[in-house]
Amino acid sequence: MISDNFDKLFEEAKKVREKAHVPYSQFKVGAAFLTEDNSIVAGCNVENAAYPQSQCAEASAIGNLISQGYKNIVEVVVIGSGSKLCSPCGGCRQRLREFAKLDVPIHMCNIEGHIKTSTLGELLPDSFGPENL
Ligand code: THU
Repeated sequence: MISDNFDKLFEEAKKVREKAHVPYSQFKVGAAFLTEDNSIVAGCNVENAAYPQSQCAEASAIGNLISQGYKNIVEVVVIGSGSKLCSPCGGCRQRLREFAKLDVPIHMCNIEGHIKTSTLGELLPDSFGPENL
């Protein structure tokens, strides 16, 4: 077993991934967060004809997290497309850093299932976060 909550997070990420707006890359991504009170918040990527205005799934999920009144992420599932590892981009690692501790596990998956788990600290060493100010 990967974790107690993995299956639930995986299902929510898979569901929201289907809603991704990806006419340019065709690369659907779904992200689901477990909050400290055991709620699940999810989001998908939203692309734009002006490509740089596109938004990653993790960024969408963070918007939903804050909109729903939560602040703390304790576990993450990201589901990409295809068979290769879909790891959060550099910008999203930093976005996660604002709301997740360095020991938070990030489970990187494809639609078939789990591929790899890394902590946020492993993905973002020597990071700059709120306590560095
Ligand atoms: N993407 C995400 O949403 N999250 C990731 O972790 C990696 C990449 C999106 C951005 C873009 O819409 C598409 O995947 C292809 O890069």
